[in-house]
Amino acid sequence: MITVQVLRKTQEATGICSYELARADGAALPAFSAGSHIDVQVPGGLTRQYSLCNDATEQHRYRIAVLRDPASRGGSVAMHDALKEGDTLQISEPRNHFPLVHAQKTILLAGGIGVTPLLCMAQRLAAIGADFTLHYCTRSADRTAFRDEIAASPFAANVKFHYDDGDAAQKLDLAREIAQPQAGTHLYVCGPTGFIDWVTKTAAQQGWPSEQVHLEYFGAAPQDTAGDQAFDVKIASSGAVYRIPADQSVAHALQQHGVEILMSCEQGVCGTCITRVLEGECDHRDLYFTDDEKAKNDQFTPCCSRARSKLLVLDI
Ligand code: FES
Repeated sequence: MITVQVLRKTQEATGICSYELARADGAALPAFSAGSHIDVQVPGGLTRQYSLCNDATEQHRYRIAVLRDPASRGGSVAMHDALKEGDTLQISEPRNHFPLVHAQKTILLAGGIGVTPLLCMAQRLAAIGADFTLHYCTRSADRTAFRDEIAASPFAANVKFHYDDGDAAQKLDLAREIAQPQAGTHLYVCGPTGFIDWVTKTAAQQGWPSEQVHLEYFGAAPQDTAGDQAFDVKIASSGAVYRIPADQSVAHALQQHGVEILMSCEQGVCGTCITRVLEGECDHRDLYFTDDEKAKNDQFTPCCSRARSKLLVLDI
């Protein structure tokens, strides 16, 4: 973990603050690429992932932005209410599960706070003179983080703002914008689950291959756990078989038997806990794998995913 100090906390929009993090001694931070996130140990003990939204060439600081969501499990409220300038935080090194690929054209689609990794991508694409457009959808202008910063940036002409409460003419006509799949064009979408589902469904309807549609969710998908059943997990290396109760995750149940699985988000978003599956059928509950990866049934996220079969054999 890296210890950083909150250099600056800025109200960027209604309910959204940004935080500039740097080492207290001013030393360089590990380099990162556009689309990266860090784990942050939030006041109160939770760990949360936040995308870096500053220019990826900077090494003197990381910048994250957080939407205060009282309906969440408490991480965002603690960040807003408890964290002040000058406080120290523990963070991980940056990791990137949402990297930019080389493309002739890039379309970035942001829903609300989902702008953070896409803002970093926009800065990178602008710096290399790439052909790109950022569509930034929010409820209203006052809930649009970084609006003035983007409007004053060298890539302002590449950005289109779309407000839910604005007139019909400025709303995002997604089916029209992505009507023609092009081999060299890649789509990136980040935002709440409903926004991502809208984009991915529309893209699929318009014939976009899934390899050209890249996504990153914020927060976990709602789960219906009412029908969950107990099942068994076998540890391939030792042959030990453990019962996973209906109301406990695989990772937590194994932990009680001394089998440690590294976890971070515990909600199927970050991919830290990915474990290979040798036998059995997974019940994938994560937002991390693509549909194709899930269909292969050879790995799963034991922090939240379960089994459809009576037994899963894990490669640990
Ligand atoms: S701990 Fe994040 S996906 Fe499992």
